[in-house]
Amino acid sequence: MAETSSPLRKRIAVIPGDGIGKEVIPEAVKVLKAAAARGGRELPLTEFDWGADRYLRDGTTLPPDAVEMFRRDYDAILLGALGDPRVPSNQHGADILIGLRFKLDLYVNARPCILFDDRLTPLKGRTEKDINIWVIRENTEGLYAGVGGFFKKGTSDEIATQEDINTRKGVERIIRYAFEFARRIGRRRVCMSDKSNALAYGHDLWQRVFKEVRLQFPEIESSHMYIDNLLLQMVRDPSQFDVIVTCNLFGDIASDVGAGLIGGLGLTPAGNIHPGKVSLFEPVHGSAPDIAGKNIANPMGAALAAGMMCDYLGWSAEAQAIENSVRAAIREGKTTKDLGGSLGTREAGDWLADKVAAAAKG
Ligand code: NAD
Ligand code: IPM
Ligand code: MN
Repeated sequence: MAETSSPLRKRIAVIPGDGIGKEVIPEAVKVLKAAAARGGRELPLTEFDWGADRYLRDGTTLPPDAVEMFRRDYDAILLGALGDPRVPSNQHGADILIGLRFKLDLYVNARPCILFDDRLTPLKGRTEKDINIWVIRENTEGLYAGVGGFFKKGTSDEIATQEDINTRKGVERIIRYAFEFARRIGRRRVCMSDKSNALAYGHDLWQRVFKEVRLQFPEIESSHMYIDNLLLQMVRDPSQFDVIVTCNLFGDIASDVGAGLIGGLGLTPAGNIHPGKVSLFEPVHGSAPDIAGKNIANPMGAALAAGMMCDYLGWSAEAQAIENSVRAAIREGKTTKDLGGSLGTREAGDWLADKVAAAAKG
């Protein structure tokens, strides 16, 4: 792809991936196109067929030139999900998704948990005022760094190690991002969560860096919670949180708990971001083999991920139009069955795209 980007033209790579990724991404693309058409934006899309089928067919996961190509030729990546029961090792998922996060140095994984409709939370008497949390997950190190190995594998003396990698640079940049993000979106509080009571080295670093960085953000209230308590408190009283910053693994878990508070995994988007560089947007959910191929998956998480991507690219009106369409669909019961509606994935996607298009005309 030779042509360059401009504020009115953004080049998007699309990786539907596996399972429901292949169903929700086409819907997100419909919604994205409807949003882009609003302001006469140009949105050249290129689809990549990377996923389990391709891996099983010819062994391809992340091609060697992919990272350079994304840096050079694309403004953002929209990804569905990777994971297939035929690939128990999830080798292709590790290479493609974790590979892109690490190799593009997408050190922020921003995951909003916002209650769009009071009826969707399992908690009693809670509203959007109470549940509006951003989980800012470290995305390039921790237990995901892939450092470790086996010794005497397959024997009764086997040893398996998995190192938790915490670097000064990595911890500092994610904590700083969380504070800057809170400031940018007008939030008052940042809560850092770790397990420094048990992980005396790696998470001691988080403690020290947090205490240092927060001094530079005096207007933001900062607090700390151990991860076990944090998850309890998210369920007990989510209103105490604005922005949560935590390590890679804990952020993965906290974001699924957050999804549970607002209507489930069908609704939550994620931005894998390196500010100023090509970044990757995806729903928080996986490939959901239990419901794949049935036209019942909720496309909203994927559509909202496309919305986050628009916001990242500077198209905030388009992002807002997508969010508004999701809110309207929920309000009017035009949803898939996980949210109590009776629409299929495609019909729900059509409804969102029509809503976005109609808003543009009105
Ligand atoms: P999952 O997120 O795929 O599914 C968890 C549960 O939520 C399932 O019951 C599923 O039916 C439901 N669900 C998920 N998305 C939904 C949607 N859009 N609409 C309605 N219901 C939805 O998690 P899992 O079952 O633990 O993992 C399945 C596979 O996906 C595994 O291979 C896993 O490694 C992979 N995975 C990939 C990603 C990713 O690529 N980003 C994320 C999570 C899991
Ligand atoms: C996510 C997923 C991935 C993760 C898996 C598929 C490796 O659960 O994006 O939340 O743990 O990061
Ligand atoms: Mn996850």
